Amino acid sequence: MPEVRKPLISGNWKMNHNHLEAIQVVQKLSYRLKAGDTAAADVSVHPAFTALRSVQTVIDADELPILLGAQNCHWETSGAFTGEVSPTMLAKLGVRYVIVGHSERRQLMGEDDATVNRKARAVLAAAMTPIVCVGETLEEREADRTDEVVTRQLTGSLDGLKADQVGALVVAYEPVWAIGTGRNATPEDAQAVCATLRGLVAGRWGEQAGATVRIQYGGSVNPGNAADILAQRDIDGALVGGASLDPDQFAAVVASVPGRR
Ligand code: PGA
Repeated sequence: MPEVRKPLISGNWKMNHNHLEAIQVVQKLSYRLKAGDTAAADVSVHPAFTALRSVQTVIDADELPILLGAQNCHWETSGAFTGEVSPTMLAKLGVRYVIVGHSERRQLMGEDDATVNRKARAVLAAAMTPIVCVGETLEEREADRTDEVVTRQLTGSLDGLKADQVGALVVAYEPVWAIGTGRNATPEDAQAVCATLRGLVAGRWGEQAGATVRIQYGGSVNPGNAADILAQRDIDGALVGGASLDPDQFAAVVASVPGRR
């Protein structure tokens, strides 16, 4: 029953846009989004921590049809963790989605599946939705290990979660070689891996969870390739980096969701 899955288009701004720039971008984005776009898809933006409060204020004051997201969090609620931000702090700011296990954090900050699992649990405990990222490197793809790698990552990252939790969260399939490179997976390749991930969820957490879990593709998504990617059966949205920094481009990606009115 794919109809029940409302696509989610998420803009991962990474370490870009200070809070003043962020306000401008989210306002411009709201002018560009059409009512039909946000009826057909949920749209989230994921600013840096320093801009969350400002963006939240704009979204609330103007009642914008944009959901607030974060890029990361710690797994503890509070404590001696210098420099970290807790899930409850994010929830208090109206954050709805938190990206966990992005490949940049896995590669640059040494996050492993156990860490991602702790974060995913903490995000759920704070009544937010994790966007759990998985994806293979170029070396792994060329060695034909894609399915093995993403299966290990997803199983480890979701370990111990209940079927209803898994069915309600978001998985982002982001091949590492496609991130920020301008080189996207073909729609067919992306679909094949997303189908594998959905099958994995169905096999481990049940058919219902497999039918409702939303799976995004990420990696050089732009207005030119979004429609073909989003038309795939098992792809329920996109996690967009570079193209989400520009409101025109990001709105054009959102407008590529099939079935909007
Ligand atoms: P990109 O980034 O769209 O710039 O490739 C995607 C991501 O890292 O989430």
